[in-house]
Amino acid sequence: MKRRTLLGQVLAASGAPAILRAQQSNRVVIDPSRIKAQLDRRLFGSFLEHLGRAIYQGIYEPGSPQADSSGFRKDVLDEIKTMGVPIIRYPGGNFVSGYNWLDGVGPREKRPRVHERAWNSIETNQFGVNEFLTWCRLAATEPLLAVNLGWGTPEMAAALVEYCNFERGTKWSDLRREHGFMQPHNVRYWCLGNEMDGPWQIGHMTAREYGRKAVDAARQMRAVDRSLQLIACGSSSPGMPTFLEWDREVLEESYPQVDAISLHRYYSNAPGGETKGDSRKYLAMNLDMEQQIDQVAAVCDYVQKRLRSSKRLWLSFDEWNVWYRARSGDGKRHEAPQLLEEIYNLEDALLAGGLLNTLMRRADRVRIACLAQLVNVIAPLMTDARSVVRQTIYYPYAWALAHCRGQVLDVGVEAASEDGIANIDAAVTFDPAKREYAVLVLNRHLSRDQEVRVVFRESTPAKAAEFLTLTGNDLKAANTFDKPKNVLPQKLELPLTSDNMVLKLPRQSYSMLRLPVA
Ligand code: AHR
Repeated sequence: MKRRTLLGQVLAASGAPAILRAQQSNRVVIDPSRIKAQLDRRLFGSFLEHLGRAIYQGIYEPGSPQADSSGFRKDVLDEIKTMGVPIIRYPGGNFVSGYNWLDGVGPREKRPRVHERAWNSIETNQFGVNEFLTWCRLAATEPLLAVNLGWGTPEMAAALVEYCNFERGTKWSDLRREHGFMQPHNVRYWCLGNEMDGPWQIGHMTAREYGRKAVDAARQMRAVDRSLQLIACGSSSPGMPTFLEWDREVLEESYPQVDAISLHRYYSNAPGGETKGDSRKYLAMNLDMEQQIDQVAAVCDYVQKRLRSSKRLWLSFDEWNVWYRARSGDGKRHEAPQLLEEIYNLEDALLAGGLLNTLMRRADRVRIACLAQLVNVIAPLMTDARSVVRQTIYYPYAWALAHCRGQVLDVGVEAASEDGIANIDAAVTFDPAKREYAVLVLNRHLSRDQEVRVVFRESTPAKAAEFLTLTGNDLKAANTFDKPKNVLPQKLELPLTSDNMVLKLPRQSYSMLRLPVA
């Protein structure tokens, strides 16, 4: 399929968030009666895969001075609790397509060490579904479990639902009780496999084959628990030759049985890649995400209309992040090898902010989204034996988690532009409980600060409570164990509030402004 150039896509996508081009000045118009969506907090979810050091040495490290009596890293748990991550996808990823969940339950000493074939590692199975669900309760997060539809069967997927959600008196629920978990875990959200369109996926198949297998699994899983919300595998990236066609065929097979379809995307600023290492283009890649969401939503709606169905699917963007540098380890098979340990810099964090803006602007359609991943593997948090470091991408994510709740507003953004790329990208939420706006703004201009006029149609803020920015002279600056505070949010001077106020945004920055209303 022919793909448009990046700039072409940016221009096409910029129509959607009402960004006017070729302006000389920037303006954001906020009308609290224009509610785009009620924000489902699951939009700010994350992902933990049995991959590299995400689980082992990431959240689970018995014997570590940082571990509690269950082996969970207390420092990591505290970070995640403080962040307030609402939902976490587990156990994969590619890993799930080769995973037998039975290997990870029951007495630890009887669990097999296996050769893990997706990432070519050694999996000890010392951490499994019960440990994860116990950890989720401690972390005050909700699980999003994926079932194996690669190597695995629909029967084993339904058995896992029975193991997790059935109260008692059946083979699998009684096995859970035997394993010491008397109460059902009641897991509501489930992914029907992972990236089954990818030739790298264990059990890769055609869209029609996968669609039929997903239907079989969905029927059997729902027979156990009717309340499940089921997510079909959509295309693993817009770069796939079967992008959209895969989604259409899968949904033509499975539409009545599923609730949502997944989207995945990793962004790159590699010199040989789509942006050719051009940071300004890179910072516009969130508009590419916006287009991907619109395209997949259009396919869902097409199938819905063809089937004369009254059900509208929602979207699960359950893998998104920057990922292009760290891929493989040393080629040897280890337990917890160092894989995908991407070090994020300032420009990655600015793009992560833009991607969060996009997700919020499309919250009418995207209900779940997962920053992939959470610890050590392409992650905002990195651990060594003693401590946790917050990578640059931690900050925009933490701001969304802390301050964006309630309603996403349909704001009008007029942005200056010299080259077809809007200098300003904004998302605004209003929390009726707290009576507070959160304004998130990306300044894509690499050499000039930008002034943004913010116009309120009603409910003018009483004051500015907090104005933080992530910026710096060096777009490639990163946080490391040696320099964990190299890139940190800085305070900006609070703007004077009125129904026509002016924000001053540093060049190459992502900023968060809290505005309580009287
Ligand atoms: O998140 C890393 C990997 O990226 C996942 O295992 C897979 O689903 C995707 O290709």
